[in-house]
Amino acid sequence: MVTGGASGIGLAAVERLLAAGARVVVADLNEKRGAEVLRQLGSENLRFVATDVADETQVERMFGYAVDQFGRLDILFNNAGLGGAVGPITEIGYDNWRRTFDILVGGVFLGIKHAARLLIAQGDGGIIVNTASIAGTGAGFGPQAYSAAKAAVINLTETAAVELAAHRIRVNAICPGVIFTQLWIAGDEDGAADAIRNFQPWPDQGQPGDIADALLFLTSKQSAFMTGQTLTVDGGLTAAHGNFFQARASNRALSTISGFTYGTTGHPNIIKRLDTTAATGNG
Ligand SMILES: NC(=O)c1ccc[n+]([C@@H]2O[C@H](COP(=O)([O-])OP(=O)(O)OC[C@H]3O[C@@H](n4cnc5c(N)ncnc54)[C@H](O)[C@@H]3O)[C@@H](O)[C@H]2O)c1
Repeated sequence: MVTGGASGIGLAAVERLLAAGARVVVADLNEKRGAEVLRQLGSENLRFVATDVADETQVERMFGYAVDQFGRLDILFNNAGLGGAVGPITEIGYDNWRRTFDILVGGVFLGIKHAARLLIAQGDGGIIVNTASIAGTGAGFGPQAYSAAKAAVINLTETAAVELAAHRIRVNAICPGVIFTQLWIAGDEDGAADAIRNFQPWPDQGQPGDIADALLFLTSKQSAFMTGQTLTVDGGLTAAHGNFFQARASNRALSTISGFTYGTTGHPNIIKRLDTTAATGNG
């Protein structure tokens, strides 16, 4: 079961899972795109069910449909999402805040709840993977409600993993960095590329397939002992802490000095200026 499987990361996941031999149900709010995906991929192992993941009745129906079509559930990719509430915190309507949480956290909760009921009843374990975000690990990567909701997804991954481990149900999350889907591009290809150019260490743009690859690992036997974890796939974006230091280091003043800075300890800094020709290895 792949929620949000009609576009972007979810769609790449559907393609990878089909190629790996899985039978896949796509659940998505966007019925038009769902129909296109069915047509485009043209696989007898693929189904679509129109679903709002924030609606419990619809979530129950989506799992019922999957079992009806394919007999059982093995894997849930809780991936549906959107940007949600945006704007200054002083201007955000509570309705928009709540709707963001309903979809991004409520949808993940409902998916875990009803998948776990099914998997426990089947009695032979299962796999749940949630799409969180690097936005859930701190400020600076997304709007307030989105970031707070994704932080909740990371935490829910841990609590659910602990609770469901006895049933051999593994629960992990993926934190994508900047992935070039419509959610990120939002009609402005150049702006989307510019926004990461100075911040992401890895030179390639993140693609939906990069996250689908991580999903495949988390659904495979190669991750059999892994649960309650969050796998970050972000081209080094968070390792570089927003690349703040690297951005400063590329400024000539910082890249031509070496030493030790003592901050506000009262010790004087020990800094020497580098011989730039020596630094390039020419003598
Ligand atoms: N693209 C990024 O840079 C990025 C980074 C971090 C996390 N994410 C997360 O990855 C996930 C997938 O996003 P994407 O980038 O592929 O975006 P996308 O817009 O390409 O795909 C998201 C899909 O989710 C569906 N969806 C939205 N709300 C839904 C609902 N209530 N019920 C059912 N389906 C719903 C949409 O119709 C769409 O098909 C989201 O959870 C998003 O927050 C994306």
